[in-house]
Amino acid sequence: MGSKNYSKALEDIKSTVNIVDVIGGAVPLKRAGSGYMACCPFHKEKTPSFSVSESKGFYHCFGCGEHGDVVTFVEKYYNLDFQGAVEKLCAQYGITIEETSGPDDRKRNEYYEANRLAARFFYDNISKKANKGYDYMAGRGLTAKTMQYFGIGYCPEEWTALTDHLRANGVSDRTMLELGLCSEKNGRVYDKFRGRVIFPIINVRGKVIGFGGRIIGQGEPKYLNSNESSVYLKKQNLYGINRSKDAIVREKYAIVVEGYMDCVSLYQSGIENVVASCGTALTPEQAKLINRYAKKVVLCYDSDKAGIAAALRGIDVLRGAGIEVRVLNVDDGKDPDEYIRKHGREAFLELIEKKSLPDVEYKVKILRESFDISDSTQGIKFLKDLAGIMRSLSPVEADIYIQKYSKEYSISEGALRREVESSAVSSKAAPAAKGSAPGKTPADSAQFARDVNLERMIIRLILLKGSYYETIRDYPEAFVTAKGMAVNTAFEALYSPGRDFDAEALKNELGEDERDLLERILDKVEVGDDPDRAFEDCVARLKEKRRKKRIREIQDILQMADALPEEAVDQEQIRALLGELQDISNLK
Ligand code: UTP
Ligand code: MN
Repeated sequence: MGSKNYSKALEDIKSTVNIVDVIGGAVPLKRAGSGYMACCPFHKEKTPSFSVSESKGFYHCFGCGEHGDVVTFVEKYYNLDFQGAVEKLCAQYGITIEETSGPDDRKRNEYYEANRLAARFFYDNISKKANKGYDYMAGRGLTAKTMQYFGIGYCPEEWTALTDHLRANGVSDRTMLELGLCSEKNGRVYDKFRGRVIFPIINVRGKVIGFGGRIIGQGEPKYLNSNESSVYLKKQNLYGINRSKDAIVREKYAIVVEGYMDCVSLYQSGIENVVASCGTALTPEQAKLINRYAKKVVLCYDSDKAGIAAALRGIDVLRGAGIEVRVLNVDDGKDPDEYIRKHGREAFLELIEKKSLPDVEYKVKILRESFDISDSTQGIKFLKDLAGIMRSLSPVEADIYIQKYSKEYSISEGALRREVESSAVSSKAAPAAKGSAPGKTPADSAQFARDVNLERMIIRLILLKGSYYETIRDYPEAFVTAKGMAVNTAFEALYSPGRDFDAEALKNELGEDERDLLERILDKVEVGDDPDRAFEDCVARLKEKRRKKRIREIQDILQMADALPEEAVDQEQIRALLGELQDISNLK
């Protein structure tokens, strides 16, 4: 969807920019064996264990485990997002970022500009004269300074206050409608957010991409949100990230809350490392966004059913991105906003410290609460589900928790261990991958063509049976083309368990090009007469690709470790890597 060709630029960077040059410009590198090393810029250490491989184009820290390529380094070190890092490197090394399609670019800029004007208008309305929006927000404890800091605004109750203002500033009705700033009925265009307080949604680059509008007082719908558009992909953003990212880096963790109000309120009370997921389940893209700034998250959701479900889902998504997760349910069914206004910052931090649970313990607690284990049938079911949780952990973690829970629930440790292992075996017996894929590099066009075919087949299958998406959402790498990724975003936005996707609704979420792609896929891709089988085959191929990639990665890391003095390398990490390598190499 991006109108600038970032993937082409990325290829150019990888083929022309020397990683030693880039990292060497930021940290003093010393030659060591075939590579270079330094004290790690991402954690405190005295003995260098940060190592850079010039030829392989990546870095790895044998102390803290941080690793990546030249772009990841620039993202992390300079606190930039992917595009920002690519742009920085391109500017520095004289690489031009080609435009893929001019008109698209123009449109995005038009959208940004319209949103900026709207945000300004809403803010002027709340700040310049007496109005219900200000009174409402002030009544809920927000200061004028906070409203300014988050750009919170108010849309007057008249029918066309914003519409008129935008028209006067040259914004077309079409743009307003596409952005969902306005609605249309019988050919009349009118303001969508009439009489609401407005939370502008701003991305990490400081651009206004959308709005949430809350009704003043009671009423339905409580919030209205702007439409998805090429500048606003709901599943890729987190509310507040533009303000909280520095604090997230500083505190080394992010607090994720559900609502706009929770986010703003915590921030005002001095807890600044907070973002809101805005009432939807966390997505892998959002996890990646957080991962750019910190490796830990405290999920702070309501303790109602929806909040618990969101937390459980969020745990898996965040873990999948390599993030350490704790969960805090604020007591008495209060939300974080109410809690902090009543008890203050210190009490809230204490709550996080004393009452939040590591994700595994949270899962087990929720599981435990759903069974009466004095009943032996339920007890067995509990044991099996508990084993299921243990099975998803690394061997070291599993070991610790097996000991803990066998004591806590008076289960024989051996029995629990056997249960964990038996379920592990059956999961390994999953369909073996067939066909072997050679190394995947951007240059390998034959492989890319296969990946594209796989992507299209998967999209076709998901269109056929919505439930396939349940599995595929754990494999974002299945989508390899820009259009495919956009389709994935639309799937994510519309996914609802147990329901098939509605082709029309999907098309509404998509741009013209992606709509065409969907048509073509529906038209051309043949599934055969056993879709389940076809789907299993796709998943097997994805698993195999992931396995191969990880094997290569571990081999490279181990090779790098060989070149280092022993005291620079955390042997525990090496043992874990060797163990993992052995496990995944023996799979077939
Ligand atoms: P909440 O109902 O918890 O809202 O929904 P809140 O932010 O705490 O608002 P207050 O305190 O009642 O004013 C959590 C989030 O879910 C999304 C919004 O992003 C909201 O912040 N949501 C909720 C909607 O998008 N639409 C709705 O109708 C309700
Ligand atoms: Mn609330």
